[in-house]
Amino acid sequence: MNKENLKKVFADKFPGEMGHVYASPGRINLIGEHTDYNGGFVFPGAVTQGIMAVIRPNGTDKVRAYSIDLNDYAEWAVSDPAGPEATCFRFVYGVARELTERGVQVKGFDTVFAGDVPLGAGMSSSAALESCFAYGLNDLFAQGEGISKWDMVLAGQATEHKYIGCNCGIMDQFASVFGKAGKLMRLDCNSREFEYFPFEPKGYKLVLVNSCVKHELAGSPYNDRRRSCENVAAAVQALHPDKEVKTLRDATWEDLKAVSGTCSAEDIKRATFVLGEKDRVLAVCEALNRGDYEEVGRQMYLTHQGLSKDYEVSCEELDYLNDIAKECGVTGSRIMGGGFGGCTINLVKDELYDAFVKRAVEAFQAKYHVEPKIIDVVIGDGSRRIE
Ligand code: GLA
Repeated sequence: MNKENLKKVFADKFPGEMGHVYASPGRINLIGEHTDYNGGFVFPGAVTQGIMAVIRPNGTDKVRAYSIDLNDYAEWAVSDPAGPEATCFRFVYGVARELTERGVQVKGFDTVFAGDVPLGAGMSSSAALESCFAYGLNDLFAQGEGISKWDMVLAGQATEHKYIGCNCGIMDQFASVFGKAGKLMRLDCNSREFEYFPFEPKGYKLVLVNSCVKHELAGSPYNDRRRSCENVAAAVQALHPDKEVKTLRDATWEDLKAVSGTCSAEDIKRATFVLGEKDRVLAVCEALNRGDYEEVGRQMYLTHQGLSKDYEVSCEELDYLNDIAKECGVTGSRIMGGGFGGCTINLVKDELYDAFVKRAVEAFQAKYHVEPKIIDVVIGDGSRRIE
């Protein structure tokens, strides 16, 4: 999205003084899928695509909002207990309320927003939108220092839980708020400690292939997956009253075996993926430390297999893209994000890149009559004020 266009539309919809411009990115995740709400590690980075918004306090108690991409307008009172119906505005409404709960005195504002993160591609367009408003509204309405970046992350996550119906973890909002150009971040979702990780895979590229199968996480089997994990964690806790088992982070392979008689076979399958993914993230950390990208790639394929067979969040199209990557000799490939559609993330040797992209596009189009979109990954900055 071009900032000048955004300002032009704003001036047209809401004449008068120009507002401030804020931006917040979508994300990729190298490895560590569905581990965030299990207290595990994730490895995301912000991308250069994101959401941009012009926001201007309007001196009333009303919010007036226009989404350029959806060509949709809504207005509501800041204190309205129900809020707007359309999903894209519910994100804005929810974030404003969550900021208010955290002590920011949000009043009425006018806003125009747009983005270039493909919707439903597993690149967290919703977190980009939430983080953009969490950052912007805090900047405009907070008295004194305002809330911390972590509070912005949590306000975005609470918006998903309370206003959208998706019981997501913290990875997406974290990546959007804390992202830094050229750096991945290794986050421990349990302690919330994280470190920036320079990601310069010399000789390799990261590329996303968007299957264009739209994924919709709210009210989806995403919440069921989370519940399965919680069931197993609760069974492990019952087994060990002496220790605290908050999430599957605190469970071992032995624990899993021990509860296999008391949990459903489906729940055990889900937890098997999660425990495997914990081990894979650690293996990838070690491999990255020694610059062993072939090992990183091997683990990515294993993650795909687990997401497809045990966690069952893949679909035919994503499995097909994964098969093509394998056939082409791509180093690593897997579903990225929540699943049920969206993109694969691929770690590809420079010399294979052209052949892989050509083959993926041609073969996918021939089979599904849809052109998959190729997105080259550039790791960008997190939430910020642009102007
Ligand atoms: C979605 C959620 C995240 C995370 C991923 C899977 O993107 O929003 O919290 O659980 O799925 O890793």
